[in-house]
Amino acid sequence: MSYNVAVDGPAGAGKSTIARAAAARLNLIYVDTGAMYRALTLYLIREGVDLEDEAEVIRRSGEPEITLGYEQGRQKVYLNGEDVSGSIRTEEVGIATARVSALGPVREGIVAMQKALAARSDCIMDGRDIGTCVLPDADVKIYLTASSQVRAKRRYDELTAKGLACDYDQIKADIEARDYQDMHRQVSPLRQAEDAVLVDTSHMTIEEVVEKLVSLCGR
Ligand code: DC
Repeated sequence: MSYNVAVDGPAGAGKSTIARAAAARLNLIYVDTGAMYRALTLYLIREGVDLEDEAEVIRRSGEPEITLGYEQGRQKVYLNGEDVSGSIRTEEVGIATARVSALGPVREGIVAMQKALAARSDCIMDGRDIGTCVLPDADVKIYLTASSQVRAKRRYDELTAKGLACDYDQIKADIEARDYQDMHRQVSPLRQAEDAVLVDTSHMTIEEVVEKLVSLCGR
C-alpha cells in the first residue's frame, strides 16, 4: 500500500510551496493536480474551443494526453509530450481553468489518473478535492488556508518584488471571487474533509507550516 497525503485549500494559501517542501523532507513525490486541469485548459484554448460551450468542452477533453514527470525533483506537466509547465501559469489559463474544472465529466478522467498515480506512489497531492474525492482514504489530510487579506498581501508582495504594478484591492477581490467559484460549484466543490486537519497559515512562516505538515505526517 502506498502512503498518501492529501492537501487541499483555496488559491493562494501556499499549498504548492508548502507541499513541495514537505514532500522533499518526507521523501514523497509531490503532485500538483491543478497543473493537470491547467494543461487540459491550455489545450482547449489553443484549439480555439469555445469554453462557454460545455458539451464541446466535455467532448474534446478526452483528446489530449496529459502526463506528469519529474526533473530534479520538480514536477513537469506534458501536453501531448510538450513540456507546458511554464505556459500553464498565466492568469488567462488560471481563469479559464476554473470554468473547465467545474465540469463533472471533465474531472472524471483526470481524477482517475490521480487515483492511479497515488495507488502506485508514496505522494503528497495538492488540489481542491483530494481529501474529499480523489483520496478519501489518504493517510493524512490537511486543509491549508489563510485569510483573503493575508493571501492578497502575499500575492501583492510577490508581484511588487518582481517590479510589476498591481492593486491590492483588485487582487483581494479576485481571490475572493475565485474562492466563491471553487466553493460553490456543483461538482466536487472545495471544502474541508471531515477528517482533515485545519492549518491556518495567516500568521505562520513557510518554515513553520512545513514543520507542522511534517509533524502531522509523523514520519
Ligand atoms: O491550484 P491551481 O490554481 O493550479 O488550480 C487551477 C484551477 O483548477 C482552480 O480553479 C481549481 C481547479 N482545481 C480543481 O478543481 N481541482 C483540483 N484538484 C485542482 C485544481
